[in-house]
Parts: sequence; structure tokens; C-alpha cells
Amino acid sequence: MVRPGLRIAVFGAGYIGLVTGACLAELGHRVVVRDIDPEKVRLLRSGDVPIYEPGLGDMIARNKERLTFTLDVQETLNGAEVVYVCVDTPPSASGDADLSRVWSVVRSLEAASHLRAVVVKSTVPVGTGARVRAALDAAGLGHVGYAANPEFTAEGRAVEDFLHPDRVVIGADDDATAALISELHTGVDGPVVVMDVRSAEMAKLASNALLATKISFINEIATLCEKTGADVEDVARAVGMDHRLGHHFLRPGIGWGGSCFPKDSEALRQLASNTGYHLQMLSAVIEVNNLQKRRAIQRLKDELGTLAGARVALLGMTFKPGTDDMREAPSTVLAGRLLAEGAEVRCWDPMARPAEAEPWTWTTRHESPRSAVEGADAAILVTDWPQLKEVDWAQAASVMRRPVFFDGRNLLDPAVMRSLGFTYISVGRP
Ligand code: UGA
Repeated sequence: MVRPGLRIAVFGAGYIGLVTGACLAELGHRVVVRDIDPEKVRLLRSGDVPIYEPGLGDMIARNKERLTFTLDVQETLNGAEVVYVCVDTPPSASGDADLSRVWSVVRSLEAASHLRAVVVKSTVPVGTGARVRAALDAAGLGHVGYAANPEFTAEGRAVEDFLHPDRVVIGADDDATAALISELHTGVDGPVVVMDVRSAEMAKLASNALLATKISFINEIATLCEKTGADVEDVARAVGMDHRLGHHFLRPGIGWGGSCFPKDSEALRQLASNTGYHLQMLSAVIEVNNLQKRRAIQRLKDELGTLAGARVALLGMTFKPGTDDMREAPSTVLAGRLLAEGAEVRCWDPMARPAEAEPWTWTTRHESPRSAVEGADAAILVTDWPQLKEVDWAQAASVMRRPVFFDGRNLLDPAVMRSLGFTYISVGRP
């Protein structure tokens, strides 16, 4: 939809910043995206997209009249009416989110003479908005509005989620800013929910924590299914059919990872602890997630006797299929543990970016699942890439030294895998 748009400056060309910038341009706004990484900006300017996200490359290409990329702060702020802060907020050594990149953007804003609002999309601790508000006031920017507009998109479907969200949450402490940021979303197909800044900040953290809770819960039930002979897939299906519970995020597996759940759950726990309150449920949710990977290694160890000298193939390395993102991927934890036990680790993944994949330095990467499992004593299916359903497993079984298979995502059929000669272990299924 093309209509006279606002001039928007987006700080940060990571997953969130790029998707936000591209989608806002698609909605008709004029957007400048700024990043500190010269290589990233060079790639974007030459029409390449440094991350894999379905639909993003095409969207950037078709909006190139309205969407530019720069390293220069002044150029970014020139004429900007709304600043979107999409920089990363990694955990610091204390466990609190490191907001230094947010502050560096806020400090630069004095130069923005047309500025009407600052919007933080980065995930931040509750109370950050109030601190930014105070900093803006102290910098003589009292007339500039502030809004929290947390991101709920999931990687691999971020463009779709941005344009057709379940909800757009806008936290603003004044009506004019809430109206401006709502207006900015004209064309987005989803309800806009306005609330105060702190509630919007909390809504983001609470959403991710509850999603992680659902997964850890079903993973714990899966463990109990293993001990009692029940089948967690049937259990999850029956539970999820209750519309009050829903079937989403009830897929058992090797545990959740990614750039958000691990970081945000720790940040929420730390936030609570800073207020003197211990979040008991969330602590258990995190512990179950860690346990899930320890149990996978233990089950392999039980099967092989020892992992020392064993050759283990990891199938899938990214934290979920449909992305090239390796951040906090369960595969990195598994690879680390296997190597510590003296195993030789080899891996396959169709999309993981080697530069980000620490285990690449310790493991051998193979071009196909078949070649990764050749001569292996065990294979772990870590990421449920659909390609793994298409593998000729009969042939794979025949080239393994010992056909021990741990299906960490319950992707394959136990009866079929066993009929092919595999010692097949999965999560919560008999
Ligand atoms: C997550 C949330 O789903 C988004 O709503 C949120 O905006 C985003 O974090 C964020 O804070 O930016 P994402 O990290 O992209 O999105 O990935 P998810 O699809 O949520 O998956 C997270 C992890 O949970 C993956 O490792 C996945 O394999 C695992 N998972 C997911 C399960 O083990 N079982 C499930 O049923 C669902």
C-alpha cells in the first residue's frame, strides 16, 4: 500500500531492525536503516540480505525507493520523525540485559530536529522506557514522545508475522504518541493494543516466558511418558485440542533455543530477582530445558556404554528449521558435551552460517545427512529440517558403524526406523 508515509529512522539492521525497516517501507513510510557493521551495510546497499528470512529480500528490493541503509548517524536522523530502536540487548555478565547500544542511540538523538517519537522495539527490562524518558527530558527532548512497541515475530516467518500479527502492542504514556505509532501501523492486519510503557515491556517478556513454559511442560510430561509407557505425541494432541490450552508450543523435543527464549527468560528471572522476588516457575522452566539436553546425552551414553571415542553425527544445527540462526542452538550444547566426553562430532545442516557456528571449529561439516552418519556410532536429529524426512534411512543405517538414532524432535516414525534396523530413541514415545 503506497500512501504519504512518515520518515522513520531504524537503528540496528539485525533480524528485528531489517524486518521492521522493510515492513514499514512496505507500508509506505520512508525508512533509513542504520547499522554499525560496514560489511552488513555494504551488502544491503548492493541488494544482498545478510540473513535468511523468507520474503525479506524481495520486500527490500521492491521498496528500494523508500528504504536506504547507512553507517552514518547524521544521515539516519536527517528529517526523521520517528526513531525505531532495534539494536540488540545481549545479557551482561550480571545477567541483566546490556543496554549500552540502546543508550548510544538515545545519546545521538539531540541531532534529530524533526523528531516526534522514539520507539523501542528491542527487548528490554521493565522500567527501561522510564529511564529513556528521563534521558530524553534531560537532553532537552521533552517534546518527543516515547513508546515501547515490542516485537512478537518468530524467525522464519517474521515478515508474515509483522504484517499479520495476533496483536500490535503499543506502550505509551501519552495519547498523542500512542496515536502516532498506531497510525504508523495502518495497513497491518491485526489488532492494536495500547497500554502504558511498563505493561508493554512486561507483555513481551511474559509472552516469551509462557511459550517457553509450554515447551518445558510438555518436555517434562514426555519424560514421564517414557517412565510410564504413554506416548507424549498422543498426550499433547489430546491436551492441545482443549481450546483453552491450544496445540501451539506443545511439541516435545530436545529443548528450546534461539536468540530470544534463553536470553529473555534469564532477563525476566534477573528482573524479578532485582525486585527481591524469585520467579519459581520460570526457574523450573529453564532447569527443565537444560535437563532435556543432559538427558539426551545420558541416553546415548547408556546405549553406547561410553561416548569416549564414539563418532556421533548431529543432524541439524540451527536452533529451529527455516533459519540460518545458530544463537543458543541446542546443537551447540550437545556438541560441547559430546566433545567433552571424548566423542568425535560430525554434523550436517542445510543453512547454518559457519561464521556463527562455534562448533564448526571442532566438528566436521558434511554436505548430506548420509555422509554425516557414515561410519558413525550414533546420530542425533537435533533440528527438525523437513529434508530429514526425505533421507533414505535404510541406506543410512547400512553405512553407520552402529545404527543408534536419537530423534530429538520426534520427526520420524519409530516403527519404520526400527524396522530398518535402527536402535531408535525419541522423546516421550514408546
Ligand atoms: C520466539 C517467539 O516465538 C516469538 O513470538 C518472539 O517474538 C521471538 O521469540 C522473539 O522474542 O524475538 P523464535 O525464537 O524465532 O521466536 O522461535 P520459536 O519458533 O518460538 O522457537 C523457539 C524454540 O522453541 C526453538 O528452539 C524451537 O525448536 C523450540 N520449540 C518451539 C519447541 O521445542 N517446541 C515447540 O512446540 C515450539
